[in-house]
Amino acid sequence: MTVAIEMGQTIAGAVAAMDLEELLATRLLVQGNSGSGKSHLLRRLLEQSAPWVQQAIIDPEGDFVTLAEHFGHLVIEAEDHTERGLQVAGERARLHRVSTVLNLEGLDAENQMRRAAAFLGGLFDVDRDHWYPMLVVVDEAQLFAPAVAGEVSDEARKLSLGAMTNLMCRGRKRGLAGIIATQRLAKLAKNVAAEASNFLMGRTFLDIDMARAADLLGMERRQAETFRDLERGQFMALGPALSRRPLRLHIGTTDTKPRNSTPRLMPMPEATLEDARAVILAAPPPDASRPQRRPAPDLLEQLRAAKAAAPEIRPEPFELPASAEELADRRERVDRTLRAVLAEPDAGFRAIGVLYQEFVVRCRIEGLGSAVPDLTEFRRMLTRARAGLGAELAEDDAWQDVSLRASILPEDMQGVFMMIARAAKEGWPCPGDAVIARAYGSHSLRRAQRLLSYMEEQGLIVCQLDGAGRRFVTLVELAWATAPGDPNADDMPAEPVSSAASL
Ligand SMILES: Nc1ncnc2c1ncn2[C@@H]1O[C@H](COP(=O)(O)OP(=O)(O)O)[C@@H](O)[C@H]1O
Ligand SMILES: [Mg+2]
Repeated sequence: MTVAIEMGQTIAGAVAAMDLEELLATRLLVQGNSGSGKSHLLRRLLEQSAPWVQQAIIDPEGDFVTLAEHFGHLVIEAEDHTERGLQVAGERARLHRVSTVLNLEGLDAENQMRRAAAFLGGLFDVDRDHWYPMLVVVDEAQLFAPAVAGEVSDEARKLSLGAMTNLMCRGRKRGLAGIIATQRLAKLAKNVAAEASNFLMGRTFLDIDMARAADLLGMERRQAETFRDLERGQFMALGPALSRRPLRLHIGTTDTKPRNSTPRLMPMPEATLEDARAVILAAPPPDASRPQRRPAPDLLEQLRAAKAAAPEIRPEPFELPASAEELADRRERVDRTLRAVLAEPDAGFRAIGVLYQEFVVRCRIEGLGSAVPDLTEFRRMLTRARAGLGAELAEDDAWQDVSLRASILPEDMQGVFMMIARAAKEGWPCPGDAVIARAYGSHSLRRAQRLLSYMEEQGLIVCQLDGAGRRFVTLVELAWATAPGDPNADDMPAEPVSSAASL
């Protein structure tokens, strides 16, 4: 069976088809300046082939999330997941044959590279039984396989380039068909570009890109001058899945639209503003309410202010305000309930949703129905409890600095960071891998080690070994260090941090 999908029309008005099976075997490279219509082309290709083949899209600008509505792709917000999480997600997407869009919008270059690499790694590493054919589309591929080192770390570049090279050079055997688009061939690593046998060349202005495109298409460089005259949406096609000789085609329409379409001119509003000055120059809303991605220098102040202002447990809106004693009493009972939930055997390894359900039920039984913390607050309490931190620390000034540092980590890691910070603050030995894993809700020692490396990569901590192979951790910026501790130790070295006792 061959499946031919319609990409659009040739200049002569004939159907321009692409052979999907051939494409799986021979990959595709799309080049064209910004605005030449590459993303549109990819969208057309994805829409037309969606019924036939599983797809994954590496989407640096969040353009493709709209495929979810019509075609059921699962959108993965890369920002919300760790590299490890994304790697596993990649594996599972293949296991279950779910088409996915990895939305990398909003991440810096370093993290875009790392997370794309992790996800691609997951797709690549899956067991042989699951090597079903799959299209892997990478838009703006020069971001992930840059020809020259940029300002990102060597490690990120190595990871990302490695993943892209795997995709394009070794993916075929595993059923992965790389489809990559780039603004400029000269910006794309040569070995990654070289593995594609199909090309769609769009409008190109720079000589160096034109020359490279001509080389790839086997055209005279002089002929490549025509790339300058291509219109938006027009491409020169060549390759076993497309055409045996360079063929000019116009890409057809799409059912879905990019989410971030280019701004359009809008007619000016007819009614004039009564008082433009008053509206435009009114005092800005208080800054503190603006969500911030990274802690700014004055955030500590804000954090303190917020801490002082907000009671731990928010009563429901219709309730009469509770007195201080009532609040304290409730908090004590909520804490007790959490302790009871955590005292269950295996509580440390249950999913947070399950724990929360149980917690809510117990709170109801306790008569705390209207004061049950919401899931976010519950997470926070759980993080603290798992890390063995007592509520009294919340009042400590230095400790607020620690929570601030912790806030740049994914939520599920914050508890571990705080546990280590606690050990460092008290000068206790560094907890062993098993203890760290437990605080993270995992049995895996390797995961514990990866957690530490991750925090080290984020610049939060530095891990070192002493002469006896014992590990000690220094908290960057706070300048606290743990005492050396045996990484293989199975329990908390220093006293009094059984999670139940000190809540
Ligand atoms: N073949 C086409 N038919 C209709 N509109 C197109 C076509 N190709 C591109 N466009 C439109 O042109 C604009 C730029 O295209 P886009 O695919 O985002 O370019 P690129 O990804 O190369 O920067 C978009 O608004 C897109 O919808
Ligand atoms: Mg684009």
